[in-house]
Amino acid sequence: MSDSLVARLSPTDYEQVAQLVLPAPIYGWIASGADDGQSLTDNVAAFRRWRLNAKVLVDVRNVDISTTVCGTKVDFPVLVAPMGIQKAAHPEGEMGTAAGVTATGSLFVEAINATTSMEDLAAKYPGMAWWIQLYNWDDRKALEGIIKRAEAAGCSGIVPLVNTTADVSHTPARVGYRLPAGVKFAHFESSPGLDFGLTEEYIEWMAKLTSLPIIPKGIVRGDDALRAVNAGARGIMISNHGGRQLSHEVSTLDALPGVVAAVGKKVDVIVDGGVRHPSDVLIALALGAKAVTVGRPVAYGLAVGGGEGVTRVLDWFKTGVRDEAMLCGITNINDLPPDLVVRM
Ligand SMILES: Cc1cc2nc3c(=O)[nH]c(=O)nc-3n(C[C@H](O)[C@H](O)[C@H](O)COP(=O)(O)O)c2cc1C
Repeated sequence: MSDSLVARLSPTDYEQVAQLVLPAPIYGWIASGADDGQSLTDNVAAFRRWRLNAKVLVDVRNVDISTTVCGTKVDFPVLVAPMGIQKAAHPEGEMGTAAGVTATGSLFVEAINATTSMEDLAAKYPGMAWWIQLYNWDDRKALEGIIKRAEAAGCSGIVPLVNTTADVSHTPARVGYRLPAGVKFAHFESSPGLDFGLTEEYIEWMAKLTSLPIIPKGIVRGDDALRAVNAGARGIMISNHGGRQLSHEVSTLDALPGVVAAVGKKVDVIVDGGVRHPSDVLIALALGAKAVTVGRPVAYGLAVGGGEGVTRVLDWFKTGVRDEAMLCGITNINDLPPDLVVRM
């Protein structure tokens, strides 16, 4: 580890540093939630209602925190959420994030609205685990083209967003965010429109098109999760888009038990939103998630230190998950007893 400022700061400080180094509209674009930000606040607060019920007098000299999520092996159960336009946060953009993911053995969910193409990422980091996130474009041929490109480039999972069913901005107008000059989308010249007629048929169509696992993102209800699985989904990503769409939606951790009850034995459930600490990872896994994805903490790491910052954030989660597992008497992260957590 270098002796740079990035290395000496704790990742918990990165948001404050990001606010200092980024132009205000870019910081606001990352930090804000929709409208009054209630969903974003609730996502984080939901984790604070749980505490770890640590078990002792267990031999924890050998601890395994690796896992397999929807068929992809990772060194620890913290994945990087899809975030578009990463060159707005740092000139390294998605390459910086990929460097951190590769260094730590995480998994990168590349956004279709990326500023670095999946082919360029895969060429530079051939060993990296990655999935691609899709928007519900109203042009199925264009979607098919992206899925075929992803297959050819070595992608191991398709993450279609299923909750972007109205034309809402993810950033409140007061933030003043605009795409920075010179930043270009890597996967398309101009984006197709969105299809607001989504049903299970969308998942069925996709499952016929590709043998890659389909992991819909944006589900919070057990009944919807079950419909998606019955239509061919091989994983569920519980998400309210980091509180960037509906401003008063159920928090994702509160949604987790219902989704796990509906589909948890059939497919892997991933929870996305509000994960800010290694203990949050243990809490989510004890409540039935296979892994979590992390958005803003990674974006702040990227903004502060490019690839080095992302590596620090992910390594902080990885080390913390291992240490906390040991302190909780856990030897295998895939095997957390439900009584590991207590609701306050
Ligand atoms: C700056 C930013 C950009 C995002 N862009 C996308 C995107 O292009 N596609 C997508 O599916 N989700 C996007 N998201 C949502 C994230 O994938 C994820 O759901 C959310 O950040 C998780 O919440 P957290 O930030 O509290 O970890 C974005 C989030 C942020 C903060």
